[in-house]
Amino acid sequence: MQRLITCILILDFVSATLCLSSNGENQVNYFNVMDYGAHGDGTSDDSNAISNAWQGVCGEQGPATLLIPSSKIFLVKRLNLSGPCKTPNVGIKFEGKIVAPSMNEWVGDSLSWIQIFYVNGLTIDADGGSIDGYGSTWWQKCRSCTRPTSLRFHSCNGLTVKNLSMSNSPGAHISVNGCDGAFFSQININSPRDSPNTDGFDIAVSKNIAIEDSTLATGDDCIAINGGCSYINATRLVCQGGHGISIGSLGKNKSYETVEEVHVRNCSFIGTTNGARIKTWPGGSGYARKITYEEIILEDVQNSIIIDQYYGIKTPNEVEDAVKVSEVTYSGFNGTSASDKAINLNCSPSGCFNITLDQIYIVSSKSTKVYAFCKNIVNGTIGHTVPKVSCA
Ligand SMILES: *[C@@H]1O[C@H](CO)[C@@H](O)[C@H](O)[C@H]1NC(C)=O
Ligand SMILES: *[C@@H]1O[C@H](CO)[C@@H](O)[C@H](O)[C@H]1NC(C)=O
Ligand SMILES: *[C@@H]1O[C@H](CO)[C@@H](O)[C@H](O)[C@H]1NC(C)=O
Ligand SMILES: *[C@@H]1O[C@H](CO)[C@@H](O)[C@H](O)[C@H]1NC(C)=O
Ligand SMILES: *[C@@H]1O[C@H](CO)[C@@H](O)[C@H](O)[C@H]1NC(C)=O
Ligand SMILES: *[C@@H]1O[C@H](CO)[C@@H](O)[C@H](O)[C@H]1NC(C)=O
Ligand SMILES: *[C@@H]1O[C@H](CO)[C@@H](O)[C@H](O)[C@H]1NC(C)=O
Ligand SMILES: *[C@@H]1O[C@H](CO)[C@@H](O)[C@H](O)[C@H]1NC(C)=O
Repeated sequence: MQRLITCILILDFVSATLCLSSNGENQVNYFNVMDYGAHGDGTSDDSNAISNAWQGVCGEQGPATLLIPSSKIFLVKRLNLSGPCKTPNVGIKFEGKIVAPSMNEWVGDSLSWIQIFYVNGLTIDADGGSIDGYGSTWWQKCRSCTRPTSLRFHSCNGLTVKNLSMSNSPGAHISVNGCDGAFFSQININSPRDSPNTDGFDIAVSKNIAIEDSTLATGDDCIAINGGCSYINATRLVCQGGHGISIGSLGKNKSYETVEEVHVRNCSFIGTTNGARIKTWPGGSGYARKITYEEIILEDVQNSIIIDQYYGIKTPNEVEDAVKVSEVTYSGFNGTSASDKAINLNCSPSGCFNITLDQIYIVSSKSTKVYAFCKNIVNGTIGHTVPKVSCA
């Protein structure tokens, strides 16, 4: 609109030629990886071809888009699509399939396979595109070693990722770190429920992040929201298997960490070990506050609602210091619990404050009786809940 108005003004006061040239600058230049020597045969390493095409995109002044075409499989050993880019309008049109090498042929970073660092205004339109991390070659042999995250965004502001499918990451599928403004929608993650640490999203030190309309089948957290995060929305998601939507762990090694304004709405948890989880280590400091979990459907979930302020500690030592948990609202929960302790408010000795529970309806999936547990002070407002939360 801004451009159109400028254009009309120029038309009015100067000349038509100026306007046409400004339109020309707005045309998107496509950089097809096939023109840069990619094979797309699933066996030749196409990392360099994609990387060279990216250099072209990133060096453009006007709108530019990397094209990874459909019906082709690109073996990528490691990929670094980093900026800063000259153009403020960067795209990746991702229609093909990217596959990782096996663990034995790994030549990339041990922390991340595809890294996108310092790119502002990036839109990834993965219209049918998919990324397979070939994690099965890692999960058995490298169960407790460092396994790479498949797709890592670092310092990317104003990011959009749409309609992307991912499977079988060696470690976490997507990590978002140091970003302000990211919008993910229609993300389809499919990894086995017993695959180790295959988080769907791992978010840290980021703000204004939205994840919508996605299905995330993982072996670990559906979404992990770590220290330094604020204004995170998770809306209309289905989390399958895995460990639910978790805030934390926060405060490890006596650290100061903060998370606030996290809003989880209209999400389903199916066969997960947790639904709404907040976890903090004893001895830490900082806060987790202004958090809402609303309109949640549960199916056979182990810990539907859990605040665990004794995370990582085998025998609870009653240290006073803790990350402060306050202003947490749980409302509109409906479904079944796989464990009897459906609601677990395991607060630190200094307590949890302004905790609201209302319109909660959780019954057992095994026809036993479910209950709510509290430790220390649980201060707040308890509305209508099944099971009753009389301990708060
Ligand atoms: C990634 O590429 C950018 C730009 O080409 C470069 O500055 C950076 O050092 C590379 N990073 C890694 C980890 O290879
Ligand atoms: C996502 O991609 C698939 C495959 O190309 C396409 O059929 C579908 O329409 C896309 N969905 C959206 C919402 O763009
Ligand atoms: C999160 O949701 C709230 C309420 O709908 C909205 O005002 C806010 O803009 C959303 N934030 C993001 C990052 O989408
Ligand atoms: C935690 O502290 C211990 C001892 O000071 C140190 O060995 C360890 O690396 C720290 N871990 C992290 C994750 O910082
Ligand atoms: C959540 O679901 C309810 C009922 O289906 C619907 O009315 C509401 O608009 C949804 N809200 C969001 C944020 O998706
Ligand atoms: C919970 O969900 C079930 C199944 O969809 C529905 O029949 C029931 O009315 C819901 N209960 C509440 C309290 O919303
Ligand atoms: C709890 O809520 C009350 C009323 O909204 C507010 O005054 C108070 O500061 C809150 N305390 C904490 C610890 O969040
Ligand atoms: C919760 O704590 C606030 C102050 O932090 C206090 O004013 C309020 O009375 C407490 N509510 C209950 C129910 O204990």
